[in-house]
Formats: sequence, structure tokens, C-alpha cells
Amino acid sequence: MADRNITVIGSINMDLVTSTAQIPKVGETVLGNSFHTIPGGKGANQAVAAARLGADVTMVGAVGNDSFGKTLVEHLINEGINTENIVKVKDTSTGIASIIVSEADNSIIVVPGANNHITPEVINKHKDKIINSNILLLQLEIPLESVTRAVELAKKHGIRTILNPAPIQTLPKELLEMVDYLTPNEHEQALLFDSIDGTEEELAKFKEKCIVTKGSKGVMIYKNGEKIEIPSIQVEAVDTTGAGDSFNGALATALCEGLDIEEASRFANVVGAISVTKLGAQTGMPTKKEVEEFMHLHKSS
Ligand code: RIB
Repeated sequence: MADRNITVIGSINMDLVTSTAQIPKVGETVLGNSFHTIPGGKGANQAVAAARLGADVTMVGAVGNDSFGKTLVEHLINEGINTENIVKVKDTSTGIASIIVSEADNSIIVVPGANNHITPEVINKHKDKIINSNILLLQLEIPLESVTRAVELAKKHGIRTILNPAPIQTLPKELLEMVDYLTPNEHEQALLFDSIDGTEEELAKFKEKCIVTKGSKGVMIYKNGEKIEIPSIQVEAVDTTGAGDSFNGALATALCEGLDIEEASRFANVVGAISVTKLGAQTGMPTKKEVEEFMHLHKSS
């Protein structure tokens, strides 16, 4: 079995989740159905997805010195994640995401709080952990210069990197050159490539690194210059929050286990599908055993 040592650098949020049949318009008040506080943050979600699938996960991130921070770190410990590299920032609130779920879809406002304190200096302090990983997994809910610094370190030491470019922003070409895999959704892929000023050859090279998640339309990858479409798995969606995070955590785990990019994407596609069957980003993330049972049932149905 290959080394399943994954380092995730990214956000840790408390998700404040309101379910409602009707999303209010500006100036309108509506009555919702339910409210929950659920651990979230793209970084933490991806870490949990990988840990439930059996990876050895280290989380590099930051929380505030408040009750959400304490709860979230305890939660990650309970998920078997190494939290020694999580910084506690004084006089700053832990990141939160205000999420409205309506008809299985969501709208999200993130207030980064402590997540903005993951500076390049913090990354440098955790260099040893980064360069001893099998895979480094990142998103864009922490400062971009810190993402770039982490990828630089990984690249220098031959560590594979996956960058989930969410929430999307303009990325420098140097960063796109360094990362091994990019995992945008369709919308993010379009914005990413619209904003790059590069030759056709360069753009084609960056596109080859993409594994594009397309929600109910499945996943698209590029392999040896060919596009491969992986169909979606039909499930009854309750909440799609964190589906992309489940996909990324699973992709990293499968790549660590030695699967090639197509096999790893097929596996992650199943994990992403299972994850949307419950309310909350992490609630529906399956264990390895649950994935196997699901695949078995799916085959025979
Ligand atoms: O990808 C879903 C996540 O985005 C939520 O858990 C929320 O915290 C936001 O970061």
C-alpha cells in the first residue's frame, strides 16, 4: 500500500446552515425550516473526506480563540486528523460560513476570520510537514500568497499538489505551472481560463491538468490529450454543500493509493455523490466501507 500521507492546507469554518423553502429577496423576511451549526470550511471538509476514506491527514490551518475554534479542532481530532499544525489566533474570530440551503442547492457567504492569518510565514513554519507528504491539497479560502508559497515548497521537494480553485479568483500563471492537478467546477474552469493571458499552447497545458466536476453531469478529465467524460451517479440529493470537497479529499486519497487519474476520478465521483445525500458538508461523507457497499449495491441495481 502506498504512503497515504496527505497534508491539507486551508480553511476551517463553522457552517451556520439555514434550510428554507424560499430564499428571501432583498428587503424581504421569510420563515425558514431549520437551523444547524455544522463543521465546514473547504480545507477542513477535504481533510475529513480523506480521513474517513483511510488517509493519514494533517491539517494546516487557523482558528480563532473562541468556542467555534475549540469545537472545530476537537471535531477534527475525533475524525483522526493531526491538528498539531493548526494555529490559534488571538483576538480573531474563527471563520464562519452563512449557508442557505433550498431545494438541495445552496448560497454561501464566508467570513474568513482566522483563515486570513495563514500567511506565507505560517506556511514556512510548517515546511517539514508539507515536504514529507505524499500529496498536498489546497483551496482558495486562505490568502493566495500562502497557497503559492506552499505549492513552491512542494514543487521543490517533488510533492504532488492538487489545487481546488474555489472560491475562484484570478490565478498567476506561475502557480498554474507549478500545480499538478486543478479541480475546478465548470463555472470555475471557464472563469479561470478567461482570466489567464497566455498563448494557446500554455492554456492547453493548463487545461490538461484539470479534473472538472460538473455536478449532476459527472466529471471530465483529460488523459493523454483526450477528454474523458465520467457520468454522474444518480442519488437523491438533500444538500450539495461540500460535494466538491468530498470529491477532492477522495481524489487525493485515491492518488495516494496509486490509482491513476481516471480511476481516482471515478472513485471520487462516487464519494461526491454519496456526500450529497445528507444535510451539511461533512455529514454525508462516507467511509471506505460505505463506498464499497454503495458500489456493490449500485452494480447490482
Ligand atoms: O465547500 C463548502 C464549504 O464552503 C462550506 O463548508 C463552507 O464553510 C464554505 O467554506
